[in-house]
Amino acid sequence: MANQYPLHTLGVIALSLSLLTPAHAASLTRDNGAVVGDNQHSQTAGPNGPVLLQDVQLIQKLQRFDRERIPERVVHARGAGAYGTFEASADISALTRAKVFAKGSKTPVFVRFSTVIHGLHSPETLRDPRGFATKFYTSEGNWDLVGNNLPVFFIRDAIKFPDMVHSLKPSPETNLQDPNRFFDFFAHQPEATHMLTRLYSDYGIPKGYQYMDGNSVHAWKLVNAQGRYVYVKFHWASRQGQHNLTMQQAAAIQAQDFNHASRELIKAIKHKQYPQWDLYLQVMQPEDMAKLDYNPLDATKIWSGVPEQKVGTMTLNRLPANIFQETEQSAFAPSNLVPGIEPSEDRLLQGRIFAYADTQLHRVGSNGLQLPVNRPLVAVDNNNQDGAMNGGQRQGGVNYEPSRQGSLQQDASARYSQLPLSGSTQQAGISKTLNFRQAGEFYRSLNKQEQANLIANLAADLGRVRNEATRNTMLSYFYKADSGYGQAISKALNANVGEIAKLAAQLHE
Ligand code: HEM
Repeated sequence: MANQYPLHTLGVIALSLSLLTPAHAASLTRDNGAVVGDNQHSQTAGPNGPVLLQDVQLIQKLQRFDRERIPERVVHARGAGAYGTFEASADISALTRAKVFAKGSKTPVFVRFSTVIHGLHSPETLRDPRGFATKFYTSEGNWDLVGNNLPVFFIRDAIKFPDMVHSLKPSPETNLQDPNRFFDFFAHQPEATHMLTRLYSDYGIPKGYQYMDGNSVHAWKLVNAQGRYVYVKFHWASRQGQHNLTMQQAAAIQAQDFNHASRELIKAIKHKQYPQWDLYLQVMQPEDMAKLDYNPLDATKIWSGVPEQKVGTMTLNRLPANIFQETEQSAFAPSNLVPGIEPSEDRLLQGRIFAYADTQLHRVGSNGLQLPVNRPLVAVDNNNQDGAMNGGQRQGGVNYEPSRQGSLQQDASARYSQLPLSGSTQQAGISKTLNFRQAGEFYRSLNKQEQANLIANLAADLGRVRNEATRNTMLSYFYKADSGYGQAISKALNANVGEIAKLAAQLHE
């Protein structure tokens, strides 16, 4: 009772269909397969009369053109994709039962890199986090690792995400992005100080997609065959090295070619200079989590001091043949998980577990996971059915479970791990916020030139903020992170450093 044929079966169907292709295969056809007689002239009533509705080629061509677009992604609309392979190199079976990590196993992948805020054809030279989403077509179903280049995020609770994105997107009134709007928002989010510091450093404009790392940002759980879990963070380390653009370099490139990141990726793969990333894991035992002075399930934090271990390498070696069908219709979701990999209790991640599959039901459609780029290599057998554009091959009368007649059964070995709980429901922030310390540590890890670039990059945007209270609040956050950092950016904006220091003194970590 297959809901959908596995890929190899579909291959056979496609092959046999191709044998049925008419002899005049090179002829232009309409969507019903009929040959087109004239694709250059509409049918008209004589030399001077109106165009005829009965010209089905004209009508169909316009109808299909009118419907070419699907909604673009609400964020991460601009992107570039590539296929490749992930090869697992370490035995971590003590940590996870997921076969994608069985030492020596090779798993096909599709990766989509992206910018976040602006639309489908926006410049790739803008300051923005970069998306780094990987779909692993594993032997146990698809696993999507949907990360970013920067290792932390602006906020720690999904309930803030729509407001944050609204503030960062162009204004609904002017259609212009405006620092007055997004700093107005961020002046209420001290936890964003770490991410903003990284974003306004030169890491906020990577030189190209091959030249950036990827990060899960969130902690995930790896679960072993005994059901025991550990918390992990994933990190893709670029073998090409991390290279960024300064504000001036980005402006110069943008003037010539605002598609440089897609172009460089395409060029590298066409020239067989296949980009590679090593995948690293940081591991934390559940019993060690409470010992830290920050919350390790807070997406605004890195796990500093926790060693990394390499678990595999990814190589990208094939470009999509059709950008719309593959890159545009690809649907990555943190909820696409396989046994042995589970979400942590990170509040931002929990919102993402819902949001991606939800937006994709709207953006790509109920049966979007049947598309070649999204469908698993393994068979999909379940009783989810119907919906628009259903091209699956579900058969038989038993579309429910359990049943004495059906053959589909749950498998207890794939049950979720169990999390001990206590207490009552609540609506409250986390207790160990530590909003500023890691921002200061990152600032001090930069060399003098990088620090100067960060100050200049920040001053360029924060200097456009007209509201003094908003500007000073932001400055106090940077001062609280590191007094030298706060002084430098305050001076660049001609702010009263003494006043900023006073504001910073009132802030709690
Ligand atoms: C609660 C917080 C968040 C929400 C609600 C959210 C929501 C979304 C939505 C609705 C999309 C469009 C998906 C689509 O149309 O296919 C998207 C794309 C994306 N998001 Fe998030 N996001 C959040 C946080 C994050 C974080 C923390 C990261 C990185 C760790 C991230 C990385 C990405 C990436 C890489 C994409 C593009 C995937 C692709 O290439 O198709 N997002 N996000």
